[in-house]
Amino acid sequence: EEEEEEEEEYLFKIVLIGDSAVGKSNLLSRFARNEFDNNSKATIGVEFQTQVVEIDGKQVKAQIWDTAGQERFRAVTSAYYRGALGALLVYDITRRSSFDSIQRWLQELSTHCDISVARMLVGNKCDLENIRDVSVKDGKCLAEEERLFFIETSALDSTNVQTAFEIVIREIY
Ligand code: GTP
Ligand code: MG
Repeated sequence: EEEEEEEEEYLFKIVLIGDSAVGKSNLLSRFARNEFDNNSKATIGVEFQTQVVEIDGKQVKAQIWDTAGQERFRAVTSAYYRGALGALLVYDITRRSSFDSIQRWLQELSTHCDISVARMLVGNKCDLENIRDVSVKDGKCLAEEERLFFIETSALDSTNVQTAFEIVIREIY
C-alpha cells in the first residue's frame, strides 16, 4: 500500500525529434538502459521507454517517445505529440543540415504542442570534435533566439545524456 503511494506520483511524456541518424534512439537507450548501438537501424514507427528519475526526493516517471526522423517511417504525427510536456530537439554536431532542420522541427512541435512544452536543443555526437560542423556558439545562439535550453551530448561516451533528460524533467516538474 505505502509503496504504491510512493510510486508513480508523476508521469511525464517527453518526445525526441530531429533528423534521421542524429542519434535519438541511442540517446534514449543510453538514458534508459545504459546501452549504445554502433549499428542501430533507422527507427520505424514509434517506440517508447519509461524511466524513473528522482527529483527532490520524488519519484518521477518519464515516458520518452522516439520516432523516425525519416518522413516515410513516421507514424501519425498528432498522436506522437499528444500530451507531451517536454521535447528534445536533436541535431548532429557533425552534420550542418541536421542543425538547419531544427527550425522545421520547432515548427512541427509548435503546431502540435502547447507553447509551454519544455524544449531542449541537443547537439549530439560531441565525441566527434575532430569533424565538428556546428560550433557550440551556433547552438547557443539558436537556443537563445528560440528560448530553448541547450546542451551538447554524446550517446557514445555518455556525456551529458542523463543531464539533458533531467533538465527537461526538472523544468516540467
Ligand atoms: P532515426 O531513427 O532514423 O530517426 O535515427 P536516430 O536519430 O534514432 O539515430 P540513431 O540513434 O539510430 O543513430 C544513428 C547513428 O549514429 C548510429 O550509427 C549510431 O551508432 C550513431 N550515434 C548515435 N549517437 C552517437 C554519438 O553520440 N556519437 C557517435 N560517434 N555516434 C553516435
Ligand atoms: Mg531512431
